[in-house]
Amino acid sequence: MISRTTIDNVFETARVEEVIGDFVQLKRSGSNMKGLSPFTDERSPSFMVSPVKQIWKDFSSGKGGNVVAFLMEHEHFNYPEAIKYLAKKYGIEIEETEQSDEQKEQANERESMYLVSEYASKYFQKQMHKTDEGQAIGLSYFKERGFTAETIKKFDLGYSPDEWEAFTKTALGDGYKLEYLEKTGLTIVKDEKTFDRFKGRVMFPIHSMSGRVLGFGGRILSNNKKAAKYLNSPESDIYHKSKVLYGINYAKQAIAKEDNCYLVEGYTDVIQFHQNGIENTVSSSGTALTPEQIRLINRLTKNITVLFDGDAAGTRASLRGIDLILEQGMNVKVCPFPEGEDPDSFARSNSEDELREFLEENSYDFITYKASLLMDEAKNDPVKKAGLIRDMVNSIAKIPDNIQREVYLQECSRIMDINEDVLYATLAQIENRDAKSSGHSKKQKMEVVKEEATPKSKVDPLYELERKIISLLILYGREEGEFHDILLKQNEQGEMIYESEVQKAKVFEKIFLDLQEDEIEFTNEDFKKLFLLLIEKLNSEDEFGVEMIINDIEKSQAIKLTDILMEEEQYELHDWGRHDIPVKTKDQGVSQYVTQTILSLRRYLVGEKINELLEEMKNVDADSETDRTEKIQEIMSYTSLSTILSDRLGRVM
Ligand code: CTP
Ligand code: MN
Repeated sequence: MISRTTIDNVFETARVEEVIGDFVQLKRSGSNMKGLSPFTDERSPSFMVSPVKQIWKDFSSGKGGNVVAFLMEHEHFNYPEAIKYLAKKYGIEIEETEQSDEQKEQANERESMYLVSEYASKYFQKQMHKTDEGQAIGLSYFKERGFTAETIKKFDLGYSPDEWEAFTKTALGDGYKLEYLEKTGLTIVKDEKTFDRFKGRVMFPIHSMSGRVLGFGGRILSNNKKAAKYLNSPESDIYHKSKVLYGINYAKQAIAKEDNCYLVEGYTDVIQFHQNGIENTVSSSGTALTPEQIRLINRLTKNITVLFDGDAAGTRASLRGIDLILEQGMNVKVCPFPEGEDPDSFARSNSEDELREFLEENSYDFITYKASLLMDEAKNDPVKKAGLIRDMVNSIAKIPDNIQREVYLQECSRIMDINEDVLYATLAQIENRDAKSSGHSKKQKMEVVKEEATPKSKVDPLYELERKIISLLILYGREEGEFHDILLKQNEQGEMIYESEVQKAKVFEKIFLDLQEDEIEFTNEDFKKLFLLLIEKLNSEDEFGVEMIINDIEKSQAIKLTDILMEEEQYELHDWGRHDIPVKTKDQGVSQYVTQTILSLRRYLVGEKINELLEEMKNVDADSETDRTEKIQEIMSYTSLSTILSDRLGRVM
């Protein structure tokens, strides 16, 4: 267990905008920071971070909370992992109380797999640097490829000994369970026998965005044509090929800073580029680019430059990837390497300046590139030319933004020397076809997502009123106010009149006492808990601040709390209509607003009670006259209460 002092220390030091800034490109927006949601596939930013309040809110998924909540959502850390991550980032020493055996056992499966992978990475490095075989075979191989000692260290490269179970035996000896060695694919278990998957290979650990080891790529050293050149970890609970980009942990800052990402094919391309000073480079590691991988990049920049080898197979694979990138609303450039060269070899034989210059001069807009690539062969062949145009317009049709689509169409018309109208007609045709085949289901899908994102699309007055009360406690809890209670009294003439009585109290006292008087209980569990916690804190002598409770409450409560704290931003983003729910106006005093809210809640509850009674009326035994009379009397008294409340509400408003 991590000590309380360490946890407090972490919370005091960590800055939410710095931590999130490592994953999401944030831009200042007033006193807040704004970026693209890392949880959804959105194109206009609705992800907010408040440096002042030290919270974040994702309006497209509804998630939100403090800095730890972000790491738990985004990196799938558990609480201690998130604290440890922050401690590491801010150089805070972790004070740990000893773990019991039981606690060790409780550490979940995924955590065990992460630990095994981290251990394996260390083991492979040690084997390479500290053993004769490792130095002679592994280390010398990397050196021969031109990797410096610094690079080899930075990428945690390693070597797996050329023995059947060298790693497996050592790991078991160090107390790691075979179950997790097998689940991570490091060990292959077959008929009671175990084998090291990566026997005799040099090792490339694959990291998550935050730098955890997820899996490995291992390259064979012999020229054995039968064995695969690269072997990768199998899919597992921690390693999902389609969601990983090799090098992203080393590249994320540079990608955001340069506002561009170079996409290459292999491990060695990434490493050689980084060594040569181009650090905004990642690789999909030989698999076809997936939408999830593009989304990883999309969080950091809108611009991708796809680099590929000067051979035909590479070209065709990249062209498919381009359409996927366009679909995500990103800008794509393409940079082909000369015949016989790949990014690795080119970066190795050129200086940083030469490499930069080459990239600059040979990166083409995808449309220009596609045209130049296909133009020559199609020039004098009208049938081929028509096919080419369709091909290009097909790509353009993937672009979600209308204006950008138009720009590309014009560019295409210029390059190909084709009348724009023809291109527009082709585009319309393609869009028509897409709408028929997939458009319908696409639309449905979008609607589903939308519903998930804002579950309260229909305003639920009770929810909103309870929320409002929590919001009043947070914002004005300890403010002193003069509350004008309007009471119905009998005057000397025996008439019922309203009389205003001024009562001084703190906002939280007023709210607490009024609700207690009416025996009003919150219906929403989270608001109920927040209410009690807030009253308790406000009633104590301690200093009061949201940061003091947000770290101690459950996730669903934290989400509601951040919702309230980010309210202004929410209005900025959604134009939510509200019914019968007071909204504070600028010139309105707090006490008036508080009274109004409490009255609204009471009136609502009375209204509900009346509905309930009316419903009960239907089921009352038709023959029982007394039951009926009782019910009617009850309804009448509630109705008059409702009228009084409305009246009073009218007076405070
Ligand atoms: N790859 C793979 N399995 C293979 C071959 C390739 O997973 N059998 C992946 C690796 O991620 C590799 C990338 O595809 O880095 C590119 O393949 P290739 O161009 O063949 O590899 P290079 O990186 O050029 O490898 P090297 O220079 O080490 O020969
Ligand atoms: Mn290569």
